[in-house]
Amino acid sequence: MNPKNLMILASVVVLLGAAHAGFAAEATLGPAELRARAKAFILPLPDKMPGAEKDLPAQIELGQKLYFEKRLSVNGKQSCNDCHLVDQNRAGVDNEPTSEGAHGKRGDRNSPTTLNAGFHFAQFWDGRAKDLVEQAKGPVLNPGEMAMPDEKEVVKRLEADARYPQLFKAAFPGEVSPISYHNFARAVAAFERTLITHDRFDDFLKGDDRALNAQELQGLNLFLTIGCTTCHVGPTIGGNMYQKAGIIHPYANTNDMGRFKVTGEEWDQYRFKVPSLRNVALTYPYFHDGQVRDLGSAVKQMAYMQLGKELADKEIAALVAFLNSLSDKGRKASR
Ligand code: HEC
Ligand code: HEC
Repeated sequence: MNPKNLMILASVVVLLGAAHAGFAAEATLGPAELRARAKAFILPLPDKMPGAEKDLPAQIELGQKLYFEKRLSVNGKQSCNDCHLVDQNRAGVDNEPTSEGAHGKRGDRNSPTTLNAGFHFAQFWDGRAKDLVEQAKGPVLNPGEMAMPDEKEVVKRLEADARYPQLFKAAFPGEVSPISYHNFARAVAAFERTLITHDRFDDFLKGDDRALNAQELQGLNLFLTIGCTTCHVGPTIGGNMYQKAGIIHPYANTNDMGRFKVTGEEWDQYRFKVPSLRNVALTYPYFHDGQVRDLGSAVKQMAYMQLGKELADKEIAALVAFLNSLSDKGRKASR
């Protein structure tokens, strides 16, 4: 090799080294400094959900039973837990792109997790229910989900049961007719308010320097510096605003107009609730249509669609490592 080429090669090596050192130097920010930066955007999940202070143990217990109650579907085939599996330490989802209803027909949106949902500012991908109580009234009567004909039929089934009359009485003491559709929803919501998760990232935020490994810290640093926190922010790292899917480059599937269906406002076209990223490594597949199976691919698409950035494989791997630290300890995916 002639000396000139050698010089060029040497400077390329130096440049590459510098770029690499830059990435590494950022990542070697001390944990204390990273923690302080992170806490400007994200705080640990609170110990209680809003409204939980009024939940009676008997309401939570009843709500849990109702969450698993298949007789709340028209043909006795489906409960909330069929699409939002929380038993056996599962992550509040079915890990399917879209879910089959009691009649076996699929809807067109992905089932989000019920874990931590009570922290969100509104429910559903388009925010059409204001809280968990309003939300719980939806699926039972939705023809594509549990498909019960009307509220009366639900109340009739509960009244005819051997145990529910007593359980509702205990859960709603002093009420003249404790079994009602509204109280069914209140009890389910009380149970859902107990679904709070605990992960290594919160351990880190609370002061444990060793809760995250080096790659996870790099990912956190990237998450904070490239702009993910513009939208994924707050204790749930999402779940507190609507944003357009595909701000800079459009999302591949433009069939679903998102919040536009609720408000009819042009501004709301393709806007969705920014999903919480807590437990995201367990809640695949991704996006409102569940069409992206791989977390790395979801991260890559987000950076491109929302921030106009093309990330290197190493950066994607670091972000994915960080997102894995947001999984509830001991929980796992359904399949
Ligand atoms: C057939 C599957 C299915 C069943 C059964 C079902 N859900 Fe869902 N759930 C979904 C889908 C799909 C969505 C998202 C729909 C949308 O955003 O338009 C959803 C959304 C939710 C949300 C909103 C979460 C968020 O982050 O916005 C909550 C909470 C929830 N369901 C709780 C329940 C409860 C409680 C029951 C039982 C009463 C139930 N679901 C039954 C499929 C189901
Ligand atoms: C401008 C707002 C915005 C920014 C910036 C943003 N996101 Fe998102 N993110 C969203 C919205 C909105 C969705 C839901 C899109 C949909 O379902 O169509 C989403 C969805 C996701 C999902 C899928 C979650 C799920 O449960 O399906 C992941 C993972 C994600 N974002 C990670 C990131 C990462 C990592 C970054 C930074 C590289 C980022 N996001 C930047 C708004 C944003």
